[in-house]
Amino acid sequence: MSKKTCRIGALISGGGSNLQAVIDACAAKAIDAKVVVVGSDNPDAFGLERAKKAGVPTFVADYGAILAAGKKDPASLKPPPNFDAEKILARQKLFPNGNRQKAISYLTARALCEATILEKMPPDSVDLVILAGFMRVVTPYFIDAFNMDPAKPRIMNIHPALLPSFPGVDGYGDTFAYGCKVGGATVHFVDYGEDTGPIIGQKCFAILPDDDLDSVKKKGLALEWQLYPECIQLFAANRLQVSAKKQADGQTRKTVTILPK
Ligand code: GAR
Repeated sequence: MSKKTCRIGALISGGGSNLQAVIDACAAKAIDAKVVVVGSDNPDAFGLERAKKAGVPTFVADYGAILAAGKKDPASLKPPPNFDAEKILARQKLFPNGNRQKAISYLTARALCEATILEKMPPDSVDLVILAGFMRVVTPYFIDAFNMDPAKPRIMNIHPALLPSFPGVDGYGDTFAYGCKVGGATVHFVDYGEDTGPIIGQKCFAILPDDDLDSVKKKGLALEWQLYPECIQLFAANRLQVSAKKQADGQTRKTVTILPK
């Protein structure tokens, strides 16, 4: 892949400053990649405007509308034709000990939303999917559509904390509220858990006595804008190797090795 341009499909939910950083890095030829499509679960995401301004095609998979319709009339939630509930249930890690029926309803509704994304952004139309402030969990239905080869995952996420600390929806808020003296951001491959996948890169910053949540977020975002393009370039240059290793704690964990140039 090192010679050809890596085609990126980006998913966003909001402002899209990370998307902008990636678009700019592509334009500056700092990364051998091109953002070829941008999708959002939120029709009002400002990031869609950024994409249009850069001439990148956009689409919306309106999760809010799909999920609300399902709540009103659960029978209307017909799973996509290739949705195998048992297979997805066996793979997912979002409901480890949870209620089976609740898990099936959740996964079916999400798969329905994800089917819209897959229709607009078919797995062979992009080399890499980046979640850039995409505030939805993706299920095995979506992940397996892109990760045909388990050794070559193709979905990345950026998270506003030093994982494995503070997964979830408010990484900087949780870091600050805990009284941490450093904060940071993490780019990782997406696996079946929430913010649990193999870590590709991290950057950290000091949290000083006069910082507040706003300044913490500003420091963090400024690092995200460097970190995401750097990690994407490692992917584009085929320098990321994922392997499963037995760890000292007895668990087998997938980790990323960065190959030399
Ligand atoms: C970023 O801080 C990103 O790390 C975070 O949302 C923000 C999006 O900003 N992502 C998550 O919390 C994912 N769980 P942006 O829209 O300006 O790129």
